[in-house]
Amino acid sequence: MTEKQDTINILAIESSCDDTAAAVIQNGKILANIVSSQLIHQQYGGVIPELAGRAHQQNIVKVVAKALEKAEMSTDQLHAVAYTQGPGLMGSLLVGSQFAKGLCLALNRPSIGVNHLEAHVAAHYIEQQQRFPMICLLVSGGHTQLILVKSELDMTVLGSTLDDAAGEAFDKTAKLLNLPYPGGPLIDQYAELGNDKAFEFPVAKLEDYQFSYSGLKTALLYFLQKQTDPSAFIENHLNDICASMRKAIVKPLIQQLEKAALAHNVQTIAIAGGVSANALLRRSVKALGEKHQWRTLIPAFEYCTDNAAMIAMVAHYKFLNQDFTPLNALPFSRMD
Ligand code: KG4
Ligand code: ZN
Repeated sequence: MTEKQDTINILAIESSCDDTAAAVIQNGKILANIVSSQLIHQQYGGVIPELAGRAHQQNIVKVVAKALEKAEMSTDQLHAVAYTQGPGLMGSLLVGSQFAKGLCLALNRPSIGVNHLEAHVAAHYIEQQQRFPMICLLVSGGHTQLILVKSELDMTVLGSTLDDAAGEAFDKTAKLLNLPYPGGPLIDQYAELGNDKAFEFPVAKLEDYQFSYSGLKTALLYFLQKQTDPSAFIENHLNDICASMRKAIVKPLIQQLEKAALAHNVQTIAIAGGVSANALLRRSVKALGEKHQWRTLIPAFEYCTDNAAMIAMVAHYKFLNQDFTPLNALPFSRMD
């Protein structure tokens, strides 16, 4: 595989949490991007790892076949198979990584393990012209990080959350309001109809590039318990509570993003991860960019939440560097 080649075809698999996804990339262009979301977790109010692993096993063959069909490609045309190596749920990661490695063995092709967080940032390389350096705010269900991106694969984490992630804050807020999982999109929907000044929830004041959301969640819990009839109160004020909580979650994200971009003299700001689908966050980042005349990169909705196109994008650059992953490499559930 060391000779220079004109065409690079890679199949990428994402299975870090509760979405089974496969994508095919040719010379850096996405030819297919298939996602199968697991609805089974909704009834439990959160992702059940054991059920997620099992659902990945049931879905993965279908999803990969669909991606190859859409790309009009057969497995013997592939030059490598990429997979999410971590972070994520171990049982889920194992399904995708073992499947990818098995395929690599059968095809005698190299495998490429991809960091899921780097891939969320790389989602920007799919449709947008890249500009470096940039600061990317990565906000997902499991992570909240400010990342300085100097080139495609050169990323430095400037800071992250001390406790809950932003997506987790949305999901826990939803749980307290008796809304189904995942709550982020629903809170966002109700918040659009509410008054964000109706209630004041505390925004944590922290050192540069740090975040904390556990206090906010507790504040909402106490606030609801204080009401004489919490259920009726939620029902009557749902839109306003959602709008006020959404503001409290988004405000520190924007403040820290602005601070980081100014401190590093960066003219391009980006958001990535599931929470970057949030309407207020998207509007606020756009406004921040306009205020400083910075370029703003806001991903298309399909590339905000977990998908394999972003894994394929990192894999493409790793392939160019001939940066392959040995078949005995293990998945990792956490970054540390
Ligand atoms: O990146 P992602 O798909 O999975 C992880 O890697 O965690 O992010 C999922 C998270 C969930 O917490 C979900 O509630 C949140 O993204 N989310 C949103 C919105 N859409 C998804 N949060 C707020 N507003 C949204 N519109
Ligand atoms: Zn993710």
